Amino acid sequence: MPRILVLGGTGYVGSAFVQELQLRGWDYRILRRSEVDYSQFPVLLRFLRSERFDLLVNCAGYSGKPNVDGCELERADTLLGNATLPLTLACACSEAGIPWGHVSSGCIFSGAKVRNPDGTVRVERDLMTPRVQEELVQFPERFHGFTEADEPNFSFRNGPCSFYSGSKALGEEVLLNHSGHFVWRLRIPFNSVDQSRNYLSKVQRYSKVYDNVNSISHLGDFARVCLDLWEKRAAFGTYNVVNPGWVTTRKVVSRIQAVLTPGRQYEFWRDDSEFYAQAAKTPRSNCILDVSKLLATGVKIRSVDEAIEDSLLHWKPAPQA
Ligand SMILES: NC(=O)c1ccc[n+]([C@@H]2O[C@H](COP(=O)([O-])OP(=O)(O)OC[C@H]3O[C@@H](n4cnc5c(N)ncnc54)[C@H](OP(=O)(O)O)[C@@H]3O)[C@@H](O)[C@H]2O)c1
Repeated sequence: MPRILVLGGTGYVGSAFVQELQLRGWDYRILRRSEVDYSQFPVLLRFLRSERFDLLVNCAGYSGKPNVDGCELERADTLLGNATLPLTLACACSEAGIPWGHVSSGCIFSGAKVRNPDGTVRVERDLMTPRVQEELVQFPERFHGFTEADEPNFSFRNGPCSFYSGSKALGEEVLLNHSGHFVWRLRIPFNSVDQSRNYLSKVQRYSKVYDNVNSISHLGDFARVCLDLWEKRAAFGTYNVVNPGWVTTRKVVSRIQAVLTPGRQYEFWRDDSEFYAQAAKTPRSNCILDVSKLLATGVKIRSVDEAIEDSLLHWKPAPQA
């Protein structure tokens, strides 16, 4: 039976991996910073050599409290958690001979790629301008996601970006000269469990909703697929792990209205200027990601529409405070 080491296993994403490991009946161990300071190379290496592990799953990182705006203030923690830690893990896992997977984010991209009628491809960074919205409605087939071969365009190198997104892009860049690992890109996680980190819960709790276009990841599907990639011995490297397709927030709201909250009206921010003036400090990434590379491995993942519908139909409301 495989034995898996999980960093950040008590966090939001890490808990989904732990749940999936329990479902599979695999042996696992959660390592916490308070127990072993895994951010220190010699400490981590000593630990990795002290027990047998077949895979290390890194769900540790810093995503800001209460949201990514927090990363603008906590810049040292953000860099240490999202850029320095992956490099330390790459060095220690390589020394110890352990394959590993890093939970990255699709938030290092903005917009989508659009195929023009003449066959050329352009990048649209903002999918909410009236011109792009019109094209999206008329010719949705022209819109394509960023692939793993595309350079991040919402990063310190290709700004503007949030400090969080910049740190996540840097966390991928430091791994470029290393091998023996997966980079799993998660994006706007959701599932059927009502809680403050779940996208479907957030949409219901916002005073006003921010409309945009995104690829998103069902959290349980994400954890399953990441472990499947390793189990099936897919090639190491970077994978966009989102449910195929994309959604607008308006569409998500309409499904929530239909399944969970009939009759409730949702208010939307008029445009970016109103949203950023009143509700957000740092730019948000909104983007479409391509999943062809993931699907080509043979790993199965349902469409985003199916995953949302299933989450809403099996919705587990949070207990009342
Ligand atoms: N949640 C999202 O929406 C989302 C989306 C895309 C990608 N991600 C990525 O997924 C990873 C996990 O995110 P999460 O939402 O599960 O975060 P989380 O709930 O805050 O859990 C992160 C865990 O990381 C560990 N950690 C290590 N260094 C840390 C530091 N400097 N500050 C805070 N925690 C630190 C902690 O575990 P111990 O203290 O127990 O060791 C903590 O429980 C991150 O890399 C994040 O960038 C998250």
